[in-house]
Amino acid sequence: MTVTTAGTTAADIEFHYDLGNDFYALWLDETLAYTAAKWDGIPRDAPDATALPRAQRAKLDHHLDLVGARPGDGLRLLDVGCGWGAMLAHASGDDRVREAVGLTVSRAQYEFLAARALPGVEPRLESWEAHDPDRPYDAVMAMGSFEHFATAGMSRADRLDCYARYFAACHRWLRPSGRMSLQTIAYDGAADGSGPIGDFVGNDVFPTARLPRLSEIAAACDPYFSVVALTASAEDYARTLASWSARLLRAREQAEQLVGPEGYRRYRRYLRASEVTFLRGAATLYRIGFRRRDEPLRLSA
Ligand SMILES: C[S@@+](CC[C@H](N)C(=O)[O-])C[C@H]1O[C@@H](n2cnc3c(N)ncnc32)[C@H](O)[C@@H]1O
Repeated sequence: MTVTTAGTTAADIEFHYDLGNDFYALWLDETLAYTAAKWDGIPRDAPDATALPRAQRAKLDHHLDLVGARPGDGLRLLDVGCGWGAMLAHASGDDRVREAVGLTVSRAQYEFLAARALPGVEPRLESWEAHDPDRPYDAVMAMGSFEHFATAGMSRADRLDCYARYFAACHRWLRPSGRMSLQTIAYDGAADGSGPIGDFVGNDVFPTARLPRLSEIAAACDPYFSVVALTASAEDYARTLASWSARLLRAREQAEQLVGPEGYRRYRRYLRASEVTFLRGAATLYRIGFRRRDEPLRLSA
């Protein structure tokens, strides 16, 4: 089965993620989170082996806070773009969440998660556009998937339309007063992805992906959600990428066995190019908390 999506195609997602779970496991930390960690209070000289998983778990807890999950709540959670299950594993067996559904469009990730058989967790090989749950959720999260929802060829109007359809779907899926969190990379100092770094990432790593701007997210969510929290931290992504680069460098020999010398070099360049993008302020990372509006607002155009 091929997953159909108007955003980054399943084939392009496979080009990136389906390089093999073992390759990513070499340089991600034990949580297998593949998005920026949250480094507040973690000293620069903390040993990498414990610092990265600690920062990743701090990020996962931050998202549970953003959706208002408290001990004993037993929420029903949707993770849109669940990757290898960092949040699903963190939530499984935690009394803040009782059941969790995770969507991915990567077959390798889906098969990995199905084999993991986490209690209370249902992985699905499905795009958000096709998701039609039979019961409402208390909370919806998306970390690192929103970047894939629009594609490079879309006009600003098309992107706004696509993002608005996502927020309308989240509104439909959530119970009244339900909460949502979003973690996404966005253009900041750069108007768009033109230039050498954008070309490299767009052509060689994530074909066709197009990042949002904050103004687009704000306009698209406004009819459906009130924003209750927003932080920006380019530093969090730059430090995460530096940690991944160092881990990949240490695992060079095994990495070359799995993806070949050229695959290894491509990933080292991609991680470094992405780090520079954040250090220069061309892109940033937003973490946003939302509360569902009871009725969508009719805003004038
Ligand atoms: C960068 S990974 C992030 C994974 C995970 N949230 C984490 O923090 O480790 C992006 C994820 O988004 C998923 N994705 C991309 N487009 C999607 C779509 N249209 N519907 C659902 N998931 C999508 C990919 O399959 C992948 O699992």
